[in-house]
Amino acid sequence: MKIISIVGARPQFIKLAPLSKELRKYHTEIIIHTGQHFDKEMSESFFVELGISDPNYNLDINSGLHGEQTGRMLIEIENVVIKEKPDLIVVFGDTNSTLAGTLVGSKLNIPSVHIEAGLRSFNKTMPEEINRIVADHTSDYLFAPTLTAMKNLELENLLSSSFFTGDIMVDSHKSAVERSKDSKIIDEHSLTNGGYYLLTLHRPYNVDNSKNLADLLKELGELNKRIIFPIHPRTKNIIEKHNLIIPENITLIKPVGYLDFVALQSSCHKILTDSGGIQKEAYILKKPCITLRSETEWVETVQMGWNLLLNPNTEKNIARKIESFIPNDHYELIFGQNVSQKMVEIINGIFN
Ligand code: UD1
Ligand code: UDP
Repeated sequence: MKIISIVGARPQFIKLAPLSKELRKYHTEIIIHTGQHFDKEMSESFFVELGISDPNYNLDINSGLHGEQTGRMLIEIENVVIKEKPDLIVVFGDTNSTLAGTLVGSKLNIPSVHIEAGLRSFNKTMPEEINRIVADHTSDYLFAPTLTAMKNLELENLLSSSFFTGDIMVDSHKSAVERSKDSKIIDEHSLTNGGYYLLTLHRPYNVDNSKNLADLLKELGELNKRIIFPIHPRTKNIIEKHNLIIPENITLIKPVGYLDFVALQSSCHKILTDSGGIQKEAYILKKPCITLRSETEWVETVQMGWNLLLNPNTEKNIARKIESFIPNDHYELIFGQNVSQKMVEIINGIFN
């Protein structure tokens, strides 16, 4: 079969890596990179480090208002799909690149798979929530990472097209853990095992309002350990534009490659984040995670007692709550194993 994988943002490259490897054992894969993320450290470095083939098409869409960005992706992806005539389209996650990819498949009547289907935050102010709902209702095959995701799909009458596969990031993360032991990043920043927090922030509701972001950084400045903060370009732009003060215990660094990031995760004391993927990786590594949001799609990590939700806009004494959070002893495998192999077996079974 000829399969087109569509990616555009950092977490999608990480998800693509193991799937692409498995797909290529049986099929011809064409990669479309929308160019939604474009800095070297947000894009190219992942292709190089994770051994993903260069994209066959880079649409170079870059930034823009959501309508404009998605609209330009639709036009360009449609052109490629008409030219390539694939048998199947694969989209990942919940970004604007996901939305554009799945809509093109649906309009051109090309079967599509949505990887990471069924997640819901039930917060429709998040652009990702709209993207996920549309992707699930326009894709033909839905690969759900968790039982909660399966339940959500059932509630939306999508069970007949859903498959419980586990989470593809388990495979990405597993192959990175061993290789991350060669990373130099811990020494480069003179870090000690358990001696620092790892922070990431990029959700619009945490970073786009400069006053909220300044308040959060000030609060984190009261933590009793150093904080390493690989900064997302969205957040960097806001900090620079508004000249925000960075507390002394926070070390800002550029976004790092996947192996360095996994090394930082493995040695930190706790993870502080509003990322989706990082909550899962924290759980896989058995690291206490504090999610700086009011809700999460990865509810199992909270239910198991490894992830604490703190909404920075309403919560008081954030630093104290972060310091006192101790996870449960209880731990269960939530996200599955050998997920990419399972996904490709399902694809092969459907199209046999
Ligand atoms: C996007 C996704 C989000 C995902 C995140 C992963 C949407 C709606 N959002 O958010 O779901 O969690 O990626 O990181 O699809 N920028 C750069 N260089 C880059 C990338 C971005 O400077 O390489 C700047 C852009 O110019 C833009 C801002 O960062 O101003 C935000 O980028 P964008 O892709 O629109 O959204 P993200 O916040 O990255
Ligand atoms: N990540 C990385 N380098 C960094 C920050 C994050 O490699 O500097 C990885 C992280 O391990 C996770 C993914 O990027 O696998 C998460 O991406 P992001 O937080 O941008 O997006 P989300 O998962 O929230 O959509």
